Amino acid sequence: MVTHALFCLLQYILLFCTLSAKAGDVDLLISFKNSLPYPNILSNWNRTNAMCEFQGITCKSGHVSSLTIRGLPLRADFMNSVSAYILPLMNLETLTLHSTNLTGSISGPVNCTVRLKELDISSNNLKGSVSNAASLADSCPSLQSLNLSDNFIGHAFYSFSPVLPHLKMLDLSYNKIRTNKDLEWLFSKVGLLKYLDLSNNNIQDSLGSLTNLQYLIMWQNNLNGEISGLSLSDLDLSNNRLSGPIPELGSLATFSAYAFENNSGLCGLPLPPCNGGSISKGDVLQQSSTNHESSQGWWITLVLLFTFFLIIGFVIGQFIK
Ligand SMILES: *[C@@H]1O[C@H](CO)[C@@H](O)[C@H](O)[C@H]1NC(C)=O
Ligand SMILES: *[C@@H]1O[C@H](CO)[C@@H](O)[C@H](O)[C@H]1NC(C)=O
Ligand SMILES: *[C@@H]1O[C@H](CO)[C@@H](O)[C@H](O)[C@H]1NC(C)=O
Ligand SMILES: *[C@@H]1O[C@H](CO)[C@@H](O)[C@H](O)[C@H]1NC(C)=O
Ligand SMILES: *[C@@H]1O[C@H](CO)[C@@H](O)[C@H](O)[C@H]1NC(C)=O
Repeated sequence: MVTHALFCLLQYILLFCTLSAKAGDVDLLISFKNSLPYPNILSNWNRTNAMCEFQGITCKSGHVSSLTIRGLPLRADFMNSVSAYILPLMNLETLTLHSTNLTGSISGPVNCTVRLKELDISSNNLKGSVSNAASLADSCPSLQSLNLSDNFIGHAFYSFSPVLPHLKMLDLSYNKIRTNKDLEWLFSKVGLLKYLDLSNNNIQDSLGSLTNLQYLIMWQNNLNGEISGLSLSDLDLSNNRLSGPIPELGSLATFSAYAFENNSGLCGLPLPPCNGGSISKGDVLQQSSTNHESSQGWWITLVLLFTFFLIIGFVIGQFIK
């Protein structure tokens, strides 16, 4: 009897715990929906449906583990809606709100679950500074990958002190980063970053040394100065204003010329050697085409000579007969 009572109590506690945890998730989701300017865009997000069947939701053991919505104009405000109701979901591991017309600013720390590993809020209308983006990343203690590509992220405030040791991937391509201090500042914060994409900004800076990086993509910027010994698996520095010899040590010389294309003054392997002065893309192309032409010339000469000696041999043969 006592055992049975205890068992019932235990069962009741367990049931209560799971119910309240589930209720927590669904409350947050419904609050998120109601915070949207047009809540009905998430038409099946209502309490008559099972939460794990809501559009975009994936569950693990009855808890929301991922939310993925692409190309639906939610028009959510980032801080007031996403940060307030989605990021606190206790078991959320990945959040993708790509091209969902998110608006507002990323303004510093957010209320982020400890489990969140991947955050993709690319192709939206988000404003904010590089340091606010860093501060967002810092408030998600497990975040490994942050994709803010194709937004309106601009200048840094340089007021953010922590480093981001857990962040491995940062995509800030297609934003509005301009000032020449951003890069140096950012690089001092991302000690263990492996993948960095800053292409299509207007960064006017020289490259520091980023020893842990494996992937660096910075095409279409205004990078200048010389390259120091980076050790990377992938690299794209095309369309910048870099100059000087490409370091022979390390892995840089093993990349194809495309990685260095259209810089004002780079030289050395894989580009032509440095003694020819400054080399532009045009020069490189011209040089390779003249090489091509001259080797073609050699072939024609060889064929002509061969034909000539063939005829001579034939004539001499006839003569000797
Ligand atoms: C909940 O969503 C279903 C469609 O999934 C719809 O038929 C129903 O009317 C909705 N209920 C409310 C209260 O909005
Ligand atoms: C939503 O975003 C798309 C592009 O992602 C854009 O064409 C459209 O104008 C935006 N709509 C609103 C209301 O902002
Ligand atoms: C963070 O979440 C907690 C608990 O849900 C809440 O009390 C607090 O106000 C939130 N803080 C912010 C800044 O949203
Ligand atoms: C970030 O998002 C953009 C737009 O969806 C995508 O093209 C890019 O590949 C993403 N970056 C990474 C590193 O996955
Ligand atoms: C070369 O790079 C500059 C940016 O530094 C860019 O504006 C220009 O369009 C690029 N040229 C070509 C041919 O890609």
